[in-house]
Amino acid sequence: MTLIAPSLLSADPGRLAEEASAVASAGADWLHLDVMDGNFVPNITFGPWIVKMARQAASIPLDAHLMVADPLFWAPVFAAAGAHYVTIHAEATPHLHKALASIRESGAKAGIALNPGTPISVVEPLIPYLDLIILMGVNPGFSGQPFIPETVDRTRQLADLIAQKGAAILLEVDGGVTAQNSSALAAAGAEILVSGSFLFRSDDYAAAIRELKALF
Ligand code: DX5
Ligand code: ZN
Repeated sequence: MTLIAPSLLSADPGRLAEEASAVASAGADWLHLDVMDGNFVPNITFGPWIVKMARQAASIPLDAHLMVADPLFWAPVFAAAGAHYVTIHAEATPHLHKALASIRESGAKAGIALNPGTPISVVEPLIPYLDLIILMGVNPGFSGQPFIPETVDRTRQLADLIAQKGAAILLEVDGGVTAQNSSALAAAGAEILVSGSFLFRSDDYAAAIRELKALF
């Protein structure tokens, strides 16, 4: 069964705690937190306080997606703040092993995110250090962008690679996910689907989650 992780980036900014609790009650499996530093991506969102707020508002796993230029500094900070999963970008640092190890040492599960233009093979040497891989379906920075269709094939390739290595790594797709592509992504091997604009645009979060899970 595919898990759904609503991205708080698309929630009503004036009611973040309420929105976090509403999606959890509506059946969201994880809560996705998009952290942007205005440097790795051309947008700025929130700092570690969002994790503390979300922990109080919802009791589902918190999935911190760090789109930051200095993951060596920030990853342990978000883990210490209480994120269950902390994911850094493959493109952000030449010191990926070190950054991933620092996440596990700080008590969180470690993830790596790949931009649409990044070869899948970058994850190969990192497999023992990973709990999660986030495959981007858009170039990171903003919610509401159109899905890049090649992501479905890349999902399949990555799922095959994980299976071939016998690794216990979860595969998540983030960006541009809608009810039009969620079934194809799940069939290709995505285990977690992030949803920002599709879900928060709906006035019935539970129905939107059922639609993404193809449960009618
Ligand atoms: C993009 C973010 C995504 C995004 C998802 O930089 O990492 O999590 O907010 O939003 P939608 O689902 O609208 O693409
Ligand atoms: Zn994200």
